[in-house]
Amino acid sequence: MEPDKAHSKSGDVEAVKFNEDVSTMRPRSSTQVRHIAILLLGIVLLVSFGPSSFIRRGRSAVYSYPPITRDVRPPFESFTVADIGTVHWWNCTGPLDSPGTECGYIIVPLDYFNQSAGVAQIALGKYKAKTVPSKGFVFFNPGGPGVPGKLSATFMGPLLQTFIGPDYDIIGFDPRGIAETLPKTECFPSAQDYIEFKAHTVLERGYDVSPNLTNPNREHLLRTQRELDVLTEAQSAICKKNMGDILRYMGTSTVVRDIDFMATAFGGDDALINFYGASYGTILGQYLVNMLPDRIGRVVIDGVADAVAWSSEPYYKWYREWLSSTEDTYRAFASECAKAGPEYCALAEADGEDGAVIMRRVEDFIDGLYFRPMAVPGADQPGMLTYGLVRRHLLEMLYAPSQWPRVAEDFAHAIHGNGTALLNAAQLVTVYFNDLARSAVSCSDNMPFTPPRPEDVVDELLSVTKEVSRFAFATVTAEPDAGCQYWSAEPPERFDGPWNHTLSNRILIVSNTADPITPIVSGRLVNSLLPHSSRLLVQDSPGHCSLNMPSLCTAKYMQAYFKDGTLPPEGTVCKPDVAPFEVPGRRLALSDSDQEMLDKLRELERAFVTVKNLRY
Ligand SMILES: *[C@@H]1O[C@H](CO)[C@@H](O)[C@H](O)[C@H]1NC(C)=O
Ligand SMILES: *[C@@H]1O[C@H](CO)[C@@H](O)[C@H](O)[C@H]1NC(C)=O
Ligand SMILES: *[C@@H]1O[C@H](CO)[C@@H](O)[C@H](O)[C@H]1NC(C)=O
Ligand SMILES: *[C@@H]1O[C@H](CO)[C@@H](O)[C@H](O)[C@H]1NC(C)=O
Ligand SMILES: *[C@@H]1O[C@H](CO)[C@@H](O)[C@H](O)[C@H]1NC(C)=O
Repeated sequence: MEPDKAHSKSGDVEAVKFNEDVSTMRPRSSTQVRHIAILLLGIVLLVSFGPSSFIRRGRSAVYSYPPITRDVRPPFESFTVADIGTVHWWNCTGPLDSPGTECGYIIVPLDYFNQSAGVAQIALGKYKAKTVPSKGFVFFNPGGPGVPGKLSATFMGPLLQTFIGPDYDIIGFDPRGIAETLPKTECFPSAQDYIEFKAHTVLERGYDVSPNLTNPNREHLLRTQRELDVLTEAQSAICKKNMGDILRYMGTSTVVRDIDFMATAFGGDDALINFYGASYGTILGQYLVNMLPDRIGRVVIDGVADAVAWSSEPYYKWYREWLSSTEDTYRAFASECAKAGPEYCALAEADGEDGAVIMRRVEDFIDGLYFRPMAVPGADQPGMLTYGLVRRHLLEMLYAPSQWPRVAEDFAHAIHGNGTALLNAAQLVTVYFNDLARSAVSCSDNMPFTPPRPEDVVDELLSVTKEVSRFAFATVTAEPDAGCQYWSAEPPERFDGPWNHTLSNRILIVSNTADPITPIVSGRLVNSLLPHSSRLLVQDSPGHCSLNMPSLCTAKYMQAYFKDGTLPPEGTVCKPDVAPFEVPGRRLALSDSDQEMLDKLRELERAFVTVKNLRY
């Protein structure tokens, strides 16, 4: 990209009065997510694209949460070290659980290096193999850190089987500190307390970055950065006060010990470990294969983040790599929109437009917000659209191309003066991170580092903004890992390599060519660290993880790999079978079985968006 060109246009974009005829815009199609919310739950479900879930209570808006499957089980307090190894399964009964799934827990040592420290209770979800006897089990991690693995498996199990195959049980578990696993990260007394802590601060609003990068308003960014530092200092202190020593046990290395323990409990001492991890799940996957290189069976990591940097460098030094494909994703968003035209993409104004024109339209709007935020009196939580909020929202929306038509509509409405839908959508992320479960993982994993001065962070992020991507500052709030210098918990174990072990079996690495947050360079890096122990499959598509952009080719290679270890030929590149701005009724010439597989992959894509937004 040419950053200076892309950014130099500024100017005060006054919000146009909402008098455009928008009736020609396509009505918002009700999404699968909304169906799930209405049909399955019949209650208000917190999902980012479904109905927003505010209940008014006095002056403050309160978010409601779905009553997720907190099945009956003995109180955690009653377990002692004598119960370590206890496994209990029952049939799931939650509203999102697929038929035939089992829920359960396993009691494991809280601290693998100190048995007297007590126990942890890992929440489990299982979708059972169709073949009897099964070939074993595949652990599944959906990312985050923070996304619930138990519910992901029971909700998406039938869809995950599309590429994991019918021969394995699929076992999801909530990693340490997350969702139903105990102990859980509860730094704040309630989700609402953390939402209020963040309200109207940089943690919610993000950074307002001057569109004129020749003359960035560095003083303003420094003030914002100081505010971020102090808020993360405060939240770390709150965590320490409310959680105490237990925060030590949430790190990725400890989660690998749990996987090791569970694999033995479920499959015996000799059982090899099979694993599918997406996004942060690829970091867990890299820890897993390098901590237990002789125990590796079939492992797929999809949407690869660099575990070397994750463990050894502070957060603000990750983004140069993380964002190395983001501008490509953004360009794909704009050019796919242009290709679809005004009938299918609300941001296109004429047939045959150039993608660059559409991007300019969006950029002018966002840049305008730097000079004058936009009043949004009609939002669920009335307020304003700011540069920082909208930039962060756009970054997150680049992850899931299936949502792009909706995103284009929200932006088009805002550009024409009605910011209601855009603010409603952007605000949901505030509740997405409703406690500090993510920091409990990332700060445990991070090697201690010299606390950076605000100047160090701001100058690095400005440099990434100029040289790599305009979304650099947005990443701080989209992927909140800042403030580890204030985190006092020292994990019992912190794996930091080497990352180049020879493994008992080859693993499969899947990377998209234009992944906005886990770029292909990271996939290539991990592949190069494991020259005799991995194979890289490239999917030529935008989106975060292959799951977000269905491809029969990718799914079939993954299926073959799980079936008998067959790897794709070196240099394999798969194309996606969907277009982000889909023309309805477009059908590929597919066999019935391929069509069925593609339908399931599309369902999986939507389900993946749903689980990422579930919070407990
Ligand atoms: C789940 O339900 C099935 C069918 O009713 C039953 O056969 C099975 O034993 C149950 N499983 C558990 C773990 O309770
Ligand atoms: C092990 O855990 C117990 C209970 O928390 C604690 O009192 C003890 O100091 C720990 N031992 C070590 C070596 O950390
Ligand atoms: C950006 O800032 C530079 C340096 O202050 C200035 O010369 C230039 O005119 C500004 N550009 C715009 C578009 O405002
Ligand atoms: C703005 O958009 C929202 C839906 O996003 C709609 O309900 C509302 O009526 C619109 N406001 C105006 C003034 O048209
Ligand atoms: C693995 O990496 C370490 C340092 O990270 C290096 O010293 C070692 O030579 C590497 N081993 C192989 C087999 O490449």
